[in-house]
Amino acid sequence: MSTQYLNGEQACALAAQHYSDRLVYSPATASWIHQPVANAWGQAVQNQSTQSQPVSLLPNKNRQLSSALVSSTSLLAAIPYLYKLARDDQGAGSVVHVSAGNDKDVFADFSDVMAVRHSGLVLLTSSSVQEAYDLALVAHVAAVRTSKPFLHFFDSSRVAQEYTSITTLADDVLTQLLSAEDVAAFKSVEQDDTKPALTAYLKYQQQNANAVDVTAVVQQVMDQFAQLTGRQYSTAAYTGHKDADKVVVAMGAGANVVSHVIQALPDAKVGLLKIHLYRPLEDLVALVPASAKQLVVLEPSQDQTSTYNPLFLDVSAGFLEKEQVDLVSGLYGVTGADVSPASIHGLLSSITLDRRFEVAAVKPVAVDVVPAHAQQLVVAGASDQIHGFAQSFASQQVYTTHVHGQPVTHIRVSSQPTTFVPSLVADAQTVVLLTNSPAASFDALQRLSQGGKVVITSESALSNGVKRAIADKKATVVEYQAKATFLEQEQVIVVPVSEWANLSIEDVPQEQPAPAVQQDAPRLETPYLGLLNQVFGDRLDIVNAVNSSSVWSPSATNPERASPEYGYGKVLHKIQQRGRFIDQVEALIKNGLPADDQKLLSQWLLLAKSPSATVKQINDAANAVLAKPELVKLLPGHHDLLFVKSNWLLGSDSWAVDLGQSGVHHVITGGDNINMLVIDTQVYSSEEERELRKKDIGLYAMNFGNVYVASVAIYASYTGVLHALMEADAYPGPSIVLAYLPAVDNKIDSIASLKETKISVDNGAWPLYRWNPALEAQGKEPFSLDSQRVKRELEAFLKRENHFTQIVAQHPDLDRLLVSSLETDFQKRHAELKRKARDDYEKLLSGLGGANGPPLLVLFGSDNGNAEGVAKKIATRATSRGLQVKLMAMDDYEDIQELGNEANLVLVVSTAGQGELPSNGREFWKALNGFNPGDIQLSELNFAVFGMGDSHYWPREEDAMFYNRPGKLIDAKLSVLGANRLVELGLGDDQDADGFETALSAWEPDMWKSLGVKDVGGEEEPKLTDDQMKIDSNYLRGTIAQDLLDESTGAISEINGKLLKFHGSYGQDDRDIREERKKQGLEKAFSFMIRVRMPGGVSTPEQWLVMDELADQYANGAIKLTTRQAFQLHGILKKNLRSTIRGINHSLLSTLAACGDVNRNIMVTPVTEIPEVHAQVQEFSDKMMLHLAPQTTAYHEIWLADDLVAGHAVQDHEPIYGPTYLPRKFKIVVAVPPNNDVDIYAHDLGFIAIVEGKQVVGYNVTVGGGMGMTHGNKKTYPRPASMLGYVPADLAIKVSEAVMTTQRDYGCRTNRKHARFKYTIDDHGLDFIKGEIEKRSGYTFAPARAFEFKDNADRYGWTKGVDDKWHFCMFIENGKVKDFPDFPVRTGLRELAKWHKGEFRLSPNQHLVIANVPEADLEKTKLHLAKYKMDNLAFSGLRLNAMACVALPTCGLAMAESERYLPTLVGHLEQAIEEAGLRDDAITIRMTGCPNGCARPYLAELAFVGKAPGAYNVYLGGGHQGERLNKLFKESLREDEILATIKPIIKQYALERQQGEPFGDWVIRAGYVKKTITGLDFHDL
Ligand SMILES: Cc1cc2nc3c(=O)[nH]c(=O)nc-3n(C[C@H](O)[C@H](O)[C@H](O)COP(=O)(O)O)c2cc1C
Ligand code: SF4
Repeated sequence: MSTQYLNGEQACALAAQHYSDRLVYSPATASWIHQPVANAWGQAVQNQSTQSQPVSLLPNKNRQLSSALVSSTSLLAAIPYLYKLARDDQGAGSVVHVSAGNDKDVFADFSDVMAVRHSGLVLLTSSSVQEAYDLALVAHVAAVRTSKPFLHFFDSSRVAQEYTSITTLADDVLTQLLSAEDVAAFKSVEQDDTKPALTAYLKYQQQNANAVDVTAVVQQVMDQFAQLTGRQYSTAAYTGHKDADKVVVAMGAGANVVSHVIQALPDAKVGLLKIHLYRPLEDLVALVPASAKQLVVLEPSQDQTSTYNPLFLDVSAGFLEKEQVDLVSGLYGVTGADVSPASIHGLLSSITLDRRFEVAAVKPVAVDVVPAHAQQLVVAGASDQIHGFAQSFASQQVYTTHVHGQPVTHIRVSSQPTTFVPSLVADAQTVVLLTNSPAASFDALQRLSQGGKVVITSESALSNGVKRAIADKKATVVEYQAKATFLEQEQVIVVPVSEWANLSIEDVPQEQPAPAVQQDAPRLETPYLGLLNQVFGDRLDIVNAVNSSSVWSPSATNPERASPEYGYGKVLHKIQQRGRFIDQVEALIKNGLPADDQKLLSQWLLLAKSPSATVKQINDAANAVLAKPELVKLLPGHHDLLFVKSNWLLGSDSWAVDLGQSGVHHVITGGDNINMLVIDTQVYSSEEERELRKKDIGLYAMNFGNVYVASVAIYASYTGVLHALMEADAYPGPSIVLAYLPAVDNKIDSIASLKETKISVDNGAWPLYRWNPALEAQGKEPFSLDSQRVKRELEAFLKRENHFTQIVAQHPDLDRLLVSSLETDFQKRHAELKRKARDDYEKLLSGLGGANGPPLLVLFGSDNGNAEGVAKKIATRATSRGLQVKLMAMDDYEDIQELGNEANLVLVVSTAGQGELPSNGREFWKALNGFNPGDIQLSELNFAVFGMGDSHYWPREEDAMFYNRPGKLIDAKLSVLGANRLVELGLGDDQDADGFETALSAWEPDMWKSLGVKDVGGEEEPKLTDDQMKIDSNYLRGTIAQDLLDESTGAISEINGKLLKFHGSYGQDDRDIREERKKQGLEKAFSFMIRVRMPGGVSTPEQWLVMDELADQYANGAIKLTTRQAFQLHGILKKNLRSTIRGINHSLLSTLAACGDVNRNIMVTPVTEIPEVHAQVQEFSDKMMLHLAPQTTAYHEIWLADDLVAGHAVQDHEPIYGPTYLPRKFKIVVAVPPNNDVDIYAHDLGFIAIVEGKQVVGYNVTVGGGMGMTHGNKKTYPRPASMLGYVPADLAIKVSEAVMTTQRDYGCRTNRKHARFKYTIDDHGLDFIKGEIEKRSGYTFAPARAFEFKDNADRYGWTKGVDDKWHFCMFIENGKVKDFPDFPVRTGLRELAKWHKGEFRLSPNQHLVIANVPEADLEKTKLHLAKYKMDNLAFSGLRLNAMACVALPTCGLAMAESERYLPTLVGHLEQAIEEAGLRDDAITIRMTGCPNGCARPYLAELAFVGKAPGAYNVYLGGGHQGERLNKLFKESLREDEILATIKPIIKQYALERQQGEPFGDWVIRAGYVKKTITGLDFHDL
């Protein structure tokens, strides 16, 4: 035996290594280990440090003696392994040593250990450092003797961090306790692998059958240990008065404090029942003196899942029969830094203790537990200093402890054998100040007895405050000498401290400043919380994560509150509470009540007890009870219990990391009616991220059969989420709703999160589904799939459960997608694409036939076709010159190493983003750039690069490097890699006179020359013009019909795509997921947009309902109201195109000529100031629309005829258009002053109604307005319409035809960019055009009549129409009719359409007029609008006047976000607007994703036009009446730059504007921009 100075962890580890073959530990517990490590039998102990869970490594087949050293904070994560260890033979003989606490400055915390008390391990606990050593040994020996795994635990604060001298055992003693023979016998027991695996239950039965008496074995080992060492332990033992009244039950260091106090009070009738063996727990009743009247169960654990703590419940269970014994539960540790002997004395002498109390709250009563021979010291100083200092006493008995994280150590020393109380020193004889820190010094001095001794290192190091504190204690101050002889040393008196008593004190510690309140992290879960609130309102009860800023940032002090365990406990408690409440109500009814009350309460009771009653029925009955206050008074508990709540546990994806630990498992298996909403913020868009996926909680839960499971995503399907929440609530058992909300860069940004959601749903990483076991009970299919792809695992589950076939039967479409799991689908598609590419190659080569000239590889990188066009031209020319040409996009050239085998390369690449590669060139560049010289052999390769860019795209000087960057990079890299440059790099610039052609025409001849090819040019293949295409199409038929039948692709051919526009539809692809799909070898996510032509934007309620239904059935669930008063549906798959168009036509709407080179939808002011005028202008437009509509029967033939026939024999005739239709789109509007809401100046042809009385007598006619232009191309520009003059109403249609045919005949047909009517007018002059129109119509324009526009905004709110009918113009941001969490507008309008008797009119600014509401329905309509918040017009003037185009993700031309971003930008600007006091001032603000200008940006007072992702050109100075173009103010600004630029301008405007001066006028007056007069000076800055 020897004495060693160790802390509890080291003592325990030492014991563990005595009896182990193997020690496993984590880096956090590595400090426990003693080196070198040999066991009692002289064998080296195998040390295994692991980053993962040490307990998981314990099981082993050959019965090695294994120990794990862990801290209890990691114990919960080990739960699954603990259970396994207990049930599995491979855990026999293992011991898990646990330092139990919570890493805080608390006395003790056994909560984590208590949480695993049911795991099946034997639990043994120690209460001092010596015990940690001794009982660790006992645990090992007993583990071998019982063949069971043990868990030995001790307090992490007191025992683990106390240093004290303990007696350790020599190997010869150790081997007496556990001999080599014993171990050999243990190891020789064979593991029977041949046994079939038993279910947990059978195993449990079997184990019980041959159960050993663990308690008896442990006690035997303890007794044997006592014989060898003289230290006697018991599994549980009573000490104290034999006739005690009050008995404390405790374990751990707390029990040790109690034991000291009881020893100090020999006469008091008190005792202690100290427990060492906690599981199995023996019968305690026999141990407690029969005299006991009160049992005080003390424990340092807080069980959130139950009212009382574990040990108390255990003890009470034993004393159930002993009614005379009062049991109380005391909590210590957990949050308190110390358990003082005085507080224990206080509770022992207290007459009344609450059933539940906290030891810290008990009034302390002094007690002296320190023997007279012991000295007590408190030392302030760094821990390493103190360690050395304290060790100097180690020849004596010494005990040191300290509070976690504080530089103050408490020491007890004695020259006699003794045990020390494990609490902090309260009255030290000596304080030693080894530090200058006043805080530590004050703490230490507080603990000094009056007149004690203070040891200092130097007087000068003491602050005045410390000196004063010393003086106040009337201490003797001595100088620190040699530590070895510290206690006996010569005492050198420093000064008479009385001199220090009057020093001024400036450093006495103030109250510690409270830690800065942590700013709440943005609550990631907010969108879902919003939904929960919306669906359940008052019924919602979120039971966990209380006081937490978020489930992602649990409360710092109570992190466990975020766990499902915590909430689960609370719900169980509530369920029990309610159960009791119901019983009590029943009793109340039985006892008799007034008849009415009796009836009300009985009704409630009946429903509350009925399994089939709905929540609504119960809550209605509860409200009826609540309405009788007298009755409520009689209720036994809180009346809240009358209601059925919707209980929700809110969790994060971290729960999925370890389902056992998170408590999810308990909730699932508990079977109680509780709902979990688990929000997953992980981004799964890339393959690597998918790999990282955590456990799938959904599959885990579905495997249990009786759990409702839904996987939803708010950004994919809002209604899907609502559905799931309601189903989960209704389901009577556990429900889990897995909700996706990807946090890109750790934040929820709606656009980025939306994109991520799409990608994950699209690729199946986040499938949308619902699994409702309640349906199965009704004989229905429980599984419904709401997205198109599923993961392989889900598919496997469905197959196994035989649901697969049903699903396929229900969704025939899904068959292919389901059968091919994600991975194989990718592979298959990829292989197909590769094969196709190879075939194309071969075709190309064989087509070249006799080509025997030099080989040429032409590669291009191009986003919008310019570079591709140049590359194609070069390839065609080369082919015709006999070269062997291969042409492809850079990324289609798969193996870059192959470049070494090519002879000649011409590479044409444009510039995207900010100096970036176009999307089909990125992989190529990445691979090429990855090579270093020597990695690839390119010496045989000749190359020529032509780059394409725009030198002014990023106009700031510092951004010059982005100009033509890809071309420059590739050219340089090829040269560095050793390839031979044929010609200097060519750089096409959009800014040159002829755009990139300027540089190309200089570069190309040199390139050909260097290739040795002469005479290029001349006989080019004639280009297929759009006119030729129209002629060939046979009046717009093309081969659309055949193409629709081709299921091999979701797209249609280029030509059919152009023709399709005339039929009202565009092919699009989802750009959010374009790149991801490309990476996976999938074709783009093609779909179609369908636009409905409806003059004046008028639709009947029936038509509205049809659109609403089609939106769900075939489109993406939203209806878009466009800037031109049309409906648009997006996301329609090719296979559904025909059904959708048929559906629209059945409702008597049409899509014909909604797009294309024809007259499109005619816009009309939807609400006129003189109500009678509307009908007249509407009728005029209807007639004009019919008059100008294309006459082709192709539309009917392709879309509406029952048989899909192609190339019909009927000879069509287009009387107005002819076979080539118009050169470009043509747009007509009708405005009724003072409203210019239709933006008359933005359109090809405009009619301004001239009204006399209530009669429209005629129109002023405008022509040549148009918005579209191209960035950097000054030949393109927007143009405000010009006035032609007045025409009487009856001649107006004739004039419209004349205008349109003038454009038909004079419009440019060679360059689509120059084909709009505005250019025709500027090319030919207004007078000529006017003359032409007059000639064709036979009418000479009269001078324009007077009119006045006020603005180009919508008229919001209620207005009165004719015949006592009313109109309400509501605000729908960007015309998006879709249910939003806080604005369920789609549902609201659908419900309204079911009974509304008037009509719906789409407004020109994307809002909606509920028109012609009969007076009788007015109130009802108002209530309905209010119910859905559709009457809300309380928006800023800025927002009410904002408009954005669709742009990303569907518009193929979009360069930046628009509709998804403008609301955010407006939000930012609103702040400045509010500050400037302009909240209600109308400033027109418009945004588009590209310069094409669909939202008419160039007429806005403030406009943003997309340039590249996140960057916009800013325009200022449009006229407030929509009459004047604005002007470019700044280029390519990002959000922060926009705000920094615009906010000060807004503020200045507020200060400087004149009465009524609009913003657009003021910015010109203030000199920010020049006034734009006509389109031709738009670019003059
Ligand atoms: C969104 C976008 C970003 C652009 N960024 C740059 C750039 O950073 N540097 C540059 O020189 N040209 C830039 N350009 C200009 C294009 O490279 C140029 O118009 C080219 O002709 C387009 O060719 P493509 O149609 O083959 O993609 C950009 C064009 C667009 C549409
Ligand atoms: S303005 Fe451009 S980005 Fe916006 S919808 Fe029109 S074409 Fe698309």
